[in-house]
Amino acid sequence: MAENTLTITDNRTNKTYTVPVENGTIRAMDLRQIKTGPEDFGLMTYDPAFLNTASCKSSITFIDGDKGILRYRGYPIEVLAEHSTFLEVAYLLLFGELPTEKELKQWVYDITHHTMLHETTKKFMEGFRYSAHPMSMFVSTIAALSSVYPEAKNVHDAANRMHQIVRLIGKVPSIAAMSYRHNVGFPYVYPDNDLSYTENFMNMLWKMVEPKYAAQPAIARALDILFILHADHEQNCSTSAMRSVGSSQTDPYLAVASAASALAGPLHGGANEEVLKMLDEIGSKDKVWDYVKRAKEGHIKLMGFGHRIYKNYDPRAKIIKWSAEQVFQVTGRNPKLDIALELERIALEDEYFVKRKLYPNVDFYSGIMYQAMGFRPEMFTVLFAIPRTAGWLSQWQEMLTDPEQKIARPRQVYTGHDVRQFVPIEKRTAVTV
Ligand code: CMC
Repeated sequence: MAENTLTITDNRTNKTYTVPVENGTIRAMDLRQIKTGPEDFGLMTYDPAFLNTASCKSSITFIDGDKGILRYRGYPIEVLAEHSTFLEVAYLLLFGELPTEKELKQWVYDITHHTMLHETTKKFMEGFRYSAHPMSMFVSTIAALSSVYPEAKNVHDAANRMHQIVRLIGKVPSIAAMSYRHNVGFPYVYPDNDLSYTENFMNMLWKMVEPKYAAQPAIARALDILFILHADHEQNCSTSAMRSVGSSQTDPYLAVASAASALAGPLHGGANEEVLKMLDEIGSKDKVWDYVKRAKEGHIKLMGFGHRIYKNYDPRAKIIKWSAEQVFQVTGRNPKLDIALELERIALEDEYFVKRKLYPNVDFYSGIMYQAMGFRPEMFTVLFAIPRTAGWLSQWQEMLTDPEQKIARPRQVYTGHDVRQFVPIEKRTAVTV
């Protein structure tokens, strides 16, 4: 018998089946042959929240959660954070290789020349309520771009697809900055093509009356590093949304809007904003112990702690912690850092967290750093969405060009009624609420 196989005995029928094992997985469809009789549909797996199901093959991002390893296209995240720029990393994710000098120059030029938004998009944004959350504005405006670029629905045309990818990576900082300016009631700022990706973003956020915006270089570099760290993270909730929605062959604007919607939740990208709220609620170092106690009793969760995949320190959190120190040298130390460090210290020594392998994740320190850099907490998840757009688009492209992929359509285990007689309204009894 071949070594890379799995033999299954069905105790209901005493039949034995042998299925191939490839890359540490068996194909769920190989289980369909396991039946109790001709009327039986065949065996399925039940896996709520995809705890143990691979939905695709991917060559983009590698994570070893037990060892705390993250690599994009084979390059360790620490190396990329030290030596690359975000746009170089976006190129790597999309094309599979680091760009040559000439390729990078062209890539940066292309992205830079797609940062402008159609004036109608500006008007669209003006329609939001003054207090709208920037993430809601971001999601809705990305979706609205689908109406500006109807040709984007030709998702199987490689050149057209790349055009939309460049547009999206170019325009997400512009939309993000406009959502912030709208929120604070300042006029929108147009992009400045002389500036780098992050400098231009800072320009669109913070330029006031000065004729030319000059970004603080240490802040611009720190933001670029944060963008690198957030660029992709394999099949997380938002990326799965991107693949799933994109699998219906909808256009990339609608698919990115769906992915960004998934990111907005507090258990995913929304956690960084929640971390700041949590640190505010704790208030001072001496209250940390009590807060941790409440988390252990199950009343609350420590935001920025725990991860589905990392059962070790999140490598991104390590880099952010280091990078935050560089930022604080320019901005002054965020007083919340002391509360965060104390929280980390207590939690990492506590049996509850040690046993469950709950470590700080990427969101734990990023919020403190963003705040020191001058960002409002409402902007934190938007800051996550900008670089992740490159990851979503890489995964979307990989999905569309994978001959094994089809429209995503999970199965269910039906637990409802069998067929019932219709009851006329006058004969129905009220369901007590
Ligand atoms: N604080 C306290 N207890 C926790 C926490 C936490 N942050 N996270 C998990 N636990 C406990 C959980 O209650 C459970 O305990 P028990 O076994 O006694 O029931 C155990 O640890 C396992 O947790 P789980 O909920 O089964 O883990 P999961 O893989 O389903 O959830 C998570 C992962 C990230 C959603 C969760 O850890 C969490 O809610 N963390 C806080 C929110 C957060 O920081 N999210 C950002 C994630 S990283 C960036 C991103 O993905 O966007």
